Amino acid sequence: MPGREFTYTNVNYSRRNGEVARVTHVTFIDVRGEARTVEAPAGMSVADAALDNNVPGIEADCGGFCACGTCHVYLDEGWLAKVPAPDELEAAMLASQVIDPRPNSRLACQLKLSDALDGVVVRTPERQYL
Ligand code: FES
Repeated sequence: MPGREFTYTNVNYSRRNGEVARVTHVTFIDVRGEARTVEAPAGMSVADAALDNNVPGIEADCGGFCACGTCHVYLDEGWLAKVPAPDELEAAMLASQVIDPRPNSRLACQLKLSDALDGVVVRTPERQYL
């Protein structure tokens, strides 16, 4: 379990690796429509938030180095404008290493949680392996 959460001036924070970070929320929706909302500290990637909370559908085999494509997610409408566009490497991975890429495809390891992304909704694909 990642760090313990505590409340300070009505804002939730999480302690992780000795650092204190604000708690954010991510909702993962699988292909059957089942939704799971998890808490994760700001600064953590969406992929790590999934792994730390045993969310199925995210493999993240390369450990977040943008080298495997097994953390593919579809960013829900409304959130695309809140994240930077994929860089060259992520775009190349999305074009070649994921199943059924779409305009809202992203690699969850490249999406860093922040206040701006608190409440983000991502959908996991049917499968991660080609
Ligand atoms: S974890 Fe490998 S590309 Fe994201």
